[in-house]
Amino acid sequence: MTESTRRDFLQRAALGTAAFLAYPPSSVLGANDRIRIGMIGVGNRGQDLLEEVQKVRGVQLVAMADVYSRRRDEAKKMAPGIQTFDDHRRLLDMKNLDAVIVASPLHTHARHFLDTLAAGKDLYAEKTMTWSIPEAEQCLAAAKDSGRVIQIGLQWESSGALADARKWIRDGAVGRVTQVNSWMSRNTPHGKGQWARAVPSDCTAQNVNWSAFLNGRPDRPFDPFRLINWRLFWEFSGGNATENMVHQIAWIMTALDLPLPSAAYMSGGVFSEKDGREVPDTIAVTLDFPNDIVVTWQSTFSNNHYGLGEHILGSDGTIEHTWGESDMVKGESGEGVRYFSERVNRPQGPALTGKTPDQDHMTNWVDCIRTRKTPNASAEIGYRSAVAVHMANLAYRQKQRVTLEMAKTVKPEF
Ligand SMILES: NC(=O)c1ccc[n+]([C@@H]2O[C@H](COP(=O)([O-])OP(=O)(O)OC[C@H]3O[C@@H](n4cnc5c(N)ncnc54)[C@H](O)[C@@H]3O)[C@@H](O)[C@H]2O)c1
Repeated sequence: MTESTRRDFLQRAALGTAAFLAYPPSSVLGANDRIRIGMIGVGNRGQDLLEEVQKVRGVQLVAMADVYSRRRDEAKKMAPGIQTFDDHRRLLDMKNLDAVIVASPLHTHARHFLDTLAAGKDLYAEKTMTWSIPEAEQCLAAAKDSGRVIQIGLQWESSGALADARKWIRDGAVGRVTQVNSWMSRNTPHGKGQWARAVPSDCTAQNVNWSAFLNGRPDRPFDPFRLINWRLFWEFSGGNATENMVHQIAWIMTALDLPLPSAAYMSGGVFSEKDGREVPDTIAVTLDFPNDIVVTWQSTFSNNHYGLGEHILGSDGTIEHTWGESDMVKGESGEGVRYFSERVNRPQGPALTGKTPDQDHMTNWVDCIRTRKTPNASAEIGYRSAVAVHMANLAYRQKQRVTLEMAKTVKPEF
């Protein structure tokens, strides 16, 4: 395919699905056509994704944008020859760019999501999809209209364990599910709070595009601590609900095909290390779903014995998905999904262990850019999981039970 035909296709693709039908996927991006990728936000996670995407065949990383010069220098070392920018809009102006990976702080996600789609590029957007519920609605609407291929960085949606759990549920082996319990736990040395990062000496006003980081938050003098430790503060973050609960709630929602929650409750506080952070480190969430299911999620940053996992409790069977749980007998830990029948309703049901291999989440996105299929973690699950975790945070901050209707009318507060 010539360069001009290829661009022509990509432009038509931006018009929506109808346009795609006239252009069969096989003639779109041939196996040998390189997909040119840019990145926005190349800090901790972004650098992991940079390594991941460079391993995928047929992909070329051509540019990145980050507000902090240190990150631009690090990215150039990891991917020599790439162009760098301190403003994501310059990256999106590039004509020879097909797709963009966004791994910026949460409060900038919606802006980077919407600007990337408006520029006609395919998108890999880190979780949580957005910082607020209104932003999640805006992004979902834009995604539906865009015809772009969008993968949310909810990589467990590509896990073999999820495929196994869905099959057991579909096959009827689990029966009626009324409750799912899930948990996530970590620990740190005494005196060092989870996520707390030292500020590098070159993190100065000269080296940072501070107004781009603020992204509409109230203006103030350069504050390197907040730039580096944005996760600890509500105006930039959603705490552990948006960092980790979102992965597990998306997994549970996909396994059971759950709609939006009808109500949320959340208790907890800053109990582990009182280091000035606003977001709680100890959390107990309950989500009510309209189809008679209650999902709980608990997390602590002061003990990691049980790692993280989910228990799906059905009338006919149980699904146990654990990751990093300590095995007290053998002293081992690891990921696994298992099924146990409930003797009272399924006396002959065998115990099962999931065997489906994981898919590589990044490769799944790149494959979908070629085939124009929907990736494993679509904007739709990005939206549903974002609304669920934001409902939980609203309940915590308002110290009350929050219904979906209430959550949708609340104006987000910095
Ligand atoms: N999927 C996962 O498993 C996973 C794991 C870790 C983090 N994450 C997500 O990745 C995102 C980034 O997390 P992190 O730990 O890498 O944070 P980080 O602070 O290390 O990196 C963010 C980068 O974005 C840059 N940045 C800030 N504002 C910007 C802007 N307006 N434009 C361009 N760049 C900007 C910062 O300079 C920094 O380099 C978060 O949303 C986080 O939840 C996902």
